[in-house]
Amino acid sequence: MSKFLLDTFEKLPFPIESGSGVYVFDDKGNRYLDLYGGHAVALMGHCPDPIIDAITQQAKKLFFYSNIADTSIRSEAADALARIVHPSLRNFFFCNSGAEANENAIKLAIRQTGRELVAAFTGSFHGRSLLCTATSDNPKTHKELGNWVGNRVEFLNPNDERSLELLTDEFACVILEPIQSMAGMVEFSHSYLIKLQEICLRKGILLIFDEVQTGFGRTGEYFISGYSGIEPDMMTSAKGIASGYPIGLLAVSERVKDQIKQGDLGSTYGGGPVAMAAVKATCELLESGAILMQVKQIDQLMQELKSVPGVEAVFGKGCLIGLKTILPAVELKNRLLKEMIITGTSKQPNVLRLLPPIVLEEQHMIHFRAKLTECLK
Ligand SMILES: Cc1ncc(COP(=O)(O)O)c(C=O)c1O
Repeated sequence: MSKFLLDTFEKLPFPIESGSGVYVFDDKGNRYLDLYGGHAVALMGHCPDPIIDAITQQAKKLFFYSNIADTSIRSEAADALARIVHPSLRNFFFCNSGAEANENAIKLAIRQTGRELVAAFTGSFHGRSLLCTATSDNPKTHKELGNWVGNRVEFLNPNDERSLELLTDEFACVILEPIQSMAGMVEFSHSYLIKLQEICLRKGILLIFDEVQTGFGRTGEYFISGYSGIEPDMMTSAKGIASGYPIGLLAVSERVKDQIKQGDLGSTYGGGPVAMAAVKATCELLESGAILMQVKQIDQLMQELKSVPGVEAVFGKGCLIGLKTILPAVELKNRLLKEMIITGTSKQPNVLRLLPPIVLEEQHMIHFRAKLTECLK
């Protein structure tokens, strides 16, 4: 690594130089099965042709122009997105990252309600901007920031109905990941979300779903927001939305949209033409229908990993999975790496995380299962 780069991340022991489908290659040409997807970003696999073609063509036509002008590709991306986002959330603002999307959502909630308190959940991760670290339950990211974070945020416990009593009409919003990834794939139950939604409606609190990881087909549905009777006021997304091109999405309800004035939201790069070409192409691939079916089949194979000796539980859905095993996740991750498989850890010491591209196939799962079995012996 260049001495000019700040060393802020714990890294894999080799550089990644190229990728194709569900595989990446190091500088010596060694091939790894990528079940981490570059932090759940490589949704459609590495270097997917339809996305590369779309961004190449767009880059040659108009590489960049800001929001001061309409571009047809921005409208086309929004139209494509509207076909997969629930009707209750079809008002979009594009920015550059998940943290920026969350930051905007929380700021809107504070501004629109005129209230200052924010509720988040233990185990949550919402990004690294100031407001997002304040709502993330990770002291590592904010313990030295003192009063700049946290003094307006209350943490509730996922699925604990008693902690909902904390929510008074002084709260502007509640933000949550429907499946908490970093926490080791903690899922919110449907009944709890319905209850939370009911309280938010009654007390005028805005409900924000952070679908940075759960969105865009990763769980086998396009999104969790809007389905099964749960309609948050705002949804944020990022990561897979443009298959690796940096972007963030804020999607808001009609009620929230009606209160947004010009100047409330802004971004220089957000909605730029090349990013929009990647969004449009990603949505079109997803819409083909076959991919969601494939994720559902992969989900079944993931759940069946429960029968591998040494696996104690499988959390999460589809291509957003936590495996609780008898081994510390760091040890298992290192063993799998020797078998040329990349995985991730979580905040739970024994939960390994799998965030593969959603184009993963049965043959890859058969290979993974065999290697997992060996590594857990
Ligand atoms: C659930 C969730 N929300 C927000 C973020 C922040 O996204 P970004 O890194 O694009 O700012 C992340 C990043 O890992 C995330 O997992």
